[in-house]
Amino acid sequence: MSNERLVGDPEVPAVSFEQVSKHYGPVQAVRELSLQLPQGRAIAFLGPNGAGKSTSMEILLGLKHASSGRVEVFGKPPRQAMTAGHVGAMLQSGGLPADVTVRELLTLMTKLHPKPLRVDEVLLRANIADLADRRAGKLSGGQTQRVRFAIAIAGDSDLIVLDEPTTGMDVENRHIFWNSMKDEAERGKTVLFATHYLEEADQIADQVVVINKGRLLANGSVSDIKAMAGFQRIAFRLPGVTREQLLNLPHVVSLDVLHDHVQIQTSDSDKTFYALLDQGLRPMEIEISALGLEQAFVAITERDNGDAVETTETEDAR
Ligand SMILES: Nc1ncnc2c1ncn2[C@@H]1O[C@H](COP(=O)(O)OP(=O)(O)OP(=O)(O)O)[C@@H](O)[C@H]1O
Ligand SMILES: [Mg+2]
Repeated sequence: MSNERLVGDPEVPAVSFEQVSKHYGPVQAVRELSLQLPQGRAIAFLGPNGAGKSTSMEILLGLKHASSGRVEVFGKPPRQAMTAGHVGAMLQSGGLPADVTVRELLTLMTKLHPKPLRVDEVLLRANIADLADRRAGKLSGGQTQRVRFAIAIAGDSDLIVLDEPTTGMDVENRHIFWNSMKDEAERGKTVLFATHYLEEADQIADQVVVINKGRLLANGSVSDIKAMAGFQRIAFRLPGVTREQLLNLPHVVSLDVLHDHVQIQTSDSDKTFYALLDQGLRPMEIEISALGLEQAFVAITERDNGDAVETTETEDAR
């Protein structure tokens, strides 16, 4: 089958992991990971430090071998997909050669790809035209990240893998960078990025993959992940309220009372709220909402770490 038929064929995932495990001696970095990532989407890889995000990415880039299982990129073994120019990447760490200018560096990098972008186009897409004539070794941390992103997109590859691309960027640059990532996804590229900025995932990702301790915990849209956490948040103001008055409400997962302001996380916002009214309490400025992605992520990973067992017991006891 030709490259063109695999790339752009919705039946062929951009990345497929089947029962992939990787251990480093006694450390099990990835455990039986099975996951298919569709083409043409922006996909966020979330997980705490040491979850196995970088290891999984390095395996799909052909930089590391899985201990067992099977990985395919556009239906091919990772190294073959790399050689065919299907993949551009920005690893978690890595510097730039110091003595060349950014333009020289990008000129060199585009030559490594079969169908690269023009260097001016790369500079434009990565928003670094102003850095073109600067020496790579003299760039700030955030500028270096932007140039590394430019290298990742220089080959006009179908899959762009970015491992924590915005680390070290200030807020403004991060937002500019997000737009560049979104533009790549809108051009039909598959963009897979690992991040600890949950807002980044919320803003950019069509699909979110959560891993913890090398295992897949969740895979779905941002709203699927929020729903999976299974909690809602109730916030209100109630002058003179005490924590004790609220302790016996049903389905409460966590309770914060600060002066007149109350925040409740609950597994059933209707029942918690009706019980509040049944107690004769009349809260004001009421807000009931789903958890944010960050809170949902914390809830899902804590549950997996076993912390939530205690919460469930407390809830049952009420
Ligand atoms: N070369 C290596 N040799 C031994 N252990 C390793 C090696 N690389 C990673 N590990 C271990 O594998 C596990 C997964 O690491 P990995 O770098 O994939 O996590 P991560 O999800 O990318 O974390 P972070 O958010 O900190 O970047 C960790 O326990 C880590 O210590
Ligand atoms: Mg990592």
